[in-house]
Amino acid sequence: MTTDALFSIPKSPDVRLVTITFEGAQMIVPEGISVAAALLTGGARDFRSSIVGDTPRAPYCMMGVCFECLVEIDGTPARQSCLIPVRDGMQIKRQHGAPALHDARIGDNHD
Ligand code: FES
Repeated sequence: MTTDALFSIPKSPDVRLVTITFEGAQMIVPEGISVAAALLTGGARDFRSSIVGDTPRAPYCMMGVCFECLVEIDGTPARQSCLIPVRDGMQIKRQHGAPALHDARIGDNHD
């Protein structure tokens, strides 16, 4: 079983790259791919911790069904990283457990 990244950055001159930050570390990734794909490309394996047991979790379905990919993006918690395209300057953090209710801005569209 391989432990190499399953995603890689395409080597085409037509691909525009953007810079994002995950847990304070900058990553240069292709514009338009999902946040989850970008983080996986950069080697991230621990996106959040579970509410019960505080175990590390990572994307599973990559299509918006499992909610294993939740992260905080630009200060908004509980974002499904597999459904959100990367933007230059995005600040992404791991999500630890459940966000407080006052942190969740449900209904706001921040993208
Ligand atoms: S990976 Fe399953 S919802 Fe994002």
